[in-house]
Amino acid sequence: MSERSVLHGDADLDRQASGDGRGSSNGQSATLSYDGRTTELPVIRGSEGEPAIDIGRLRAETGLITMDRGYMNTGSCLSAITFLDGERGILRYRGYPIEQLAEKSSFLEVAYLLTYGELPTRAQLEAWTSDVTHHTLIHEEMRRFFDSFPYDAHPMAVLASATVGLSTFYQDSHDPFDPAAVELTIQRLIAKLPTLAAWSFKKAIGQPYVYPRNDLDYAANLLHMMFAVPAEPYEVHPDVAKALDLLLILHADHEQNCSTSTVRLVGSSQVNLYASISAGISALWGPLHGGANEAVIRTLERIAADGGNVQKYIDKAKDPNHEFKLPGFGHRVYKNFDPRATIIKTAADRVLAATGADDQLYEIARQLEEVALHDEYFVKRKLYPNVDFYSGLIYRAIGFPKNMFTNCFAIGRLPGWIAQWKEMIGSADTKIGRPRQIYTGATARDYVPLEAR
Ligand code: SDX
Repeated sequence: MSERSVLHGDADLDRQASGDGRGSSNGQSATLSYDGRTTELPVIRGSEGEPAIDIGRLRAETGLITMDRGYMNTGSCLSAITFLDGERGILRYRGYPIEQLAEKSSFLEVAYLLTYGELPTRAQLEAWTSDVTHHTLIHEEMRRFFDSFPYDAHPMAVLASATVGLSTFYQDSHDPFDPAAVELTIQRLIAKLPTLAAWSFKKAIGQPYVYPRNDLDYAANLLHMMFAVPAEPYEVHPDVAKALDLLLILHADHEQNCSTSTVRLVGSSQVNLYASISAGISALWGPLHGGANEAVIRTLERIAADGGNVQKYIDKAKDPNHEFKLPGFGHRVYKNFDPRATIIKTAADRVLAATGADDQLYEIARQLEEVALHDEYFVKRKLYPNVDFYSGLIYRAIGFPKNMFTNCFAIGRLPGWIAQWKEMIGSADTKIGRPRQIYTGATARDYVPLEAR
């Protein structure tokens, strides 16, 4: 048993880490009047006071179900991991403000915090770092796996496939209810995702795969595997490694976003963690979600090629007859500002200075932000820069190609997915996720023979 599980046997901490708090109801309820009947539904409140109507008995007592497209008003779970306040621009991992973690923590420490619920002691952090470091190699037969993809395969397709592919090499640790197997899988996933991502990039550009180095820290190792070549020494720039570590921290969790909800839903079937994470990677790939960072740079490049005509793209984004939405702007929860975007924008200045990358796109991004923030369409809809608006500029300055940006997002989000999966699988409340529907198709009708059609 690793250091962590021995030191970490506290039942209270396990309960907190599993999110099995009940949410307090303090006797409050909501009254539903329908079809001549009145039904009382309990109101529960989270630790930050958010209220929710518990509709667990709704269908049994009223025959009604709810309809909520995109789950904009629907809570899927009780969770003790991440708190967001979209109006006040608050983001906290296990109660710690993102601003403090960004300034004082490291990605591996944040990964521990999200997964186990508390900041690690020095001994726990050393054990955790050692465990992750010593699992960064992937099975040598996975080289053939990468070779089987076309050179121009999107790295997110490769990453999602390789992640579920890992489960074929570790068939002994699939059981989601075996603590030792889960612990080993968590270490393997956090350790190996950077290797899988880097190798998908090396395959795409026809360079030799670069093996991980145990003397480098997490972010530096990813940079090394991405950009080193056997023909010459490669030195990781400390400011660049620090900026990448910061980006990974900022992406580490974000409560019940699309990809996290996917991980929870797939995991609720009790499939192994590799498969659940692979599903999350696929969901993150979408341009409305994690794929937005790549779309931001493509849009900035189009604006640059179009003579820097920012207003033209603002007008396109506002045009209801145009499906174009300004990537990197808007958020389902943040209706004021995304605290991560604020931090990333500051970091972008540092990285551009450290790398000497051209800041033409950064200048266009700043103009775009300036125009949008004063445009009535954006102001009225409370559309502000989100985490993806400036992150792509940093990845680009570091040297990542555009199609690798969402892979970086996935590596950052992995501890959040794992923590949320762990909370789901460990909760006595969990049932397989199976929403209902309102049927709008044809009513009953008889089969029509072919000759009669
Ligand atoms: C992430 O959920 C998370 O937490 C996600 C994330 C995480 O860490 O996991 O934060 C990461 O996915 C950030 C979001 C990255 N996506 C983008 O930047 C893509 C561009 N943004 C939009 O597609 C949109 O803002 C969403 C998808 C992010 C949010 O969409 P919603 O909440 O469903 O809101 P909506 O699409 O209904 O928009 C409301 C209105 C609409 O106009 P009207 O119909 O009222 O006239 O705002 C408009 C939208 O057309 N709108 C935009 C816009 N975003 C919303 N118009 C132009 N450009 C945009 N970017």
